[in-house]
Amino acid sequence: EKMSIKLTRRQFAAGSVALLSCGSFNRAWGKTANTKLPIPPLLDGTAAEPIDLQIRAGQWSFMPGIKTPTLGFSQDYLGPTIRTRQNSELNLNYENTLDEGVAIHGHGLHVPGAVDGGPQLEIAPGGRWQPTLPIVQPAATCWYHSHTHGRTSHQVYHGLAGMIIIDDDLSRATDLPSRYGVDDLPVIVQDRTFDERGRLVYSLSDAGEDGWYGETVVVNGAMSPVAHVPAGKVRLRLLNGANARFYIVAFADNRSFHKIAGDGGFLEAPVQMTSMEMAPGERCEIIVDLEDGAPAELLTLFEDEFEGEGPVGDLLKLLSRNRRPAPSLILRVDTSLPANTAPLPEKLAAIARPLQSEIVRTRDFVLDMDDGGSGTHDSTGSHAMMDMTINGAAMDMNVINERVKRGVWERWRIRSNQGEHPFHVHGCSFLIEKIAGEAPPPDQQGWKDTVVLDDDGWSEIVVQFNHLATDQYPYMYHCHILEHEDRGMMGQFTVS
Ligand code: C2O
Ligand code: CU
Ligand code: CU
Repeated sequence: EKMSIKLTRRQFAAGSVALLSCGSFNRAWGKTANTKLPIPPLLDGTAAEPIDLQIRAGQWSFMPGIKTPTLGFSQDYLGPTIRTRQNSELNLNYENTLDEGVAIHGHGLHVPGAVDGGPQLEIAPGGRWQPTLPIVQPAATCWYHSHTHGRTSHQVYHGLAGMIIIDDDLSRATDLPSRYGVDDLPVIVQDRTFDERGRLVYSLSDAGEDGWYGETVVVNGAMSPVAHVPAGKVRLRLLNGANARFYIVAFADNRSFHKIAGDGGFLEAPVQMTSMEMAPGERCEIIVDLEDGAPAELLTLFEDEFEGEGPVGDLLKLLSRNRRPAPSLILRVDTSLPANTAPLPEKLAAIARPLQSEIVRTRDFVLDMDDGGSGTHDSTGSHAMMDMTINGAAMDMNVINERVKRGVWERWRIRSNQGEHPFHVHGCSFLIEKIAGEAPPPDQQGWKDTVVLDDDGWSEIVVQFNHLATDQYPYMYHCHILEHEDRGMMGQFTVS
């Protein structure tokens, strides 16, 4: 019944434990400060009036008393949560007040290429963009973020990201916790590095070959914040909004939780787990039960710092108290809030899988970040010029890499030649048939838009596109390590 995950896909001696870290800042601030979890304002995405999203510079306090220059949507850091509904239209009105171009993509949305917000749709400084997004897909937790050519990593790091929640008849009919900010919490996990004055440290050209790793975890822009929640079931909408970190999500007391949804919406049934891995770009909705009134400490451990394999709980037990990682989010029970104690539904969404005979074509994608010894590192030894490619080609705005037919099922086989990469596809949700040659675990069997690849075999997805994406406004597929994306690990495709 209880599931464990492999802590890392790299091979290390079983059971050995290295430093577990969520960053030194968390450790210091988590003890002294009791920051409340910031809850982005909730906006109604079904209204006829467009939602104004002003892309602007701001000053945000990640640490009490220290102002950090940031970017945000109509706020200092991140953006409002937009809640919309299947079979409605989402009207947005972006205004770019920055002095650089910005493209904003709706990640996870099944919308036509013309409103998908890829790099072709850059909003010039001082410009506006008013897309109407037809929301046809089922309930899911999605997000919007910068997708500016060559600048995505920088702009997301400074704050250009926000959450989109889609409801449908099923999500509204269940007894699942759904009071936003009360028992249904947006949890945007990122890592950031600060200098001694509290400014964000970031440089694409200084990022290592795995991308930019921040030292400190922030959740909705706060370090080790506290959320006061009812004594019952609480739903966390986790979004890995980091540039490059893979997190291992668990609770400090190793309690179990239920995953109810992945990137593209509900699983067929809740899956009980004690830990899970989240790659950049992925979303997971989980239900944690606080009926016992005890606080719950959410950990988001750095997968790259783990050495060893086995259940996270076993590793945590081996650590002395002062080496325990700081929690990324503390849930404290407030018994004055009305609790959701309804049992979890046994069944969630039905997932209509295609028959093998309906899959009409196969495409292969090989991700590579090998410099091939061709001396493409610059003289400083930076990885900025390293070749990051898919099928041997780096992203070129003037090249359409694939042409796909609308409304038919395809199998995409994807593999990495070097390193671990979250491969993301625009304009769709897909089903994973294989991860590294093996059947996906139950919690990965729902709709996804990001699949993690390693160099140990083909991963396979089945996918169908139902909207158009033209030569002018194609869709993208890419690695969601944003430094890899900006360095070229991305391709363009049309749907016609
Ligand atoms: Cu979340 Cu193409 O990106
Ligand atoms: Cu996307
Ligand atoms: Cu990558």
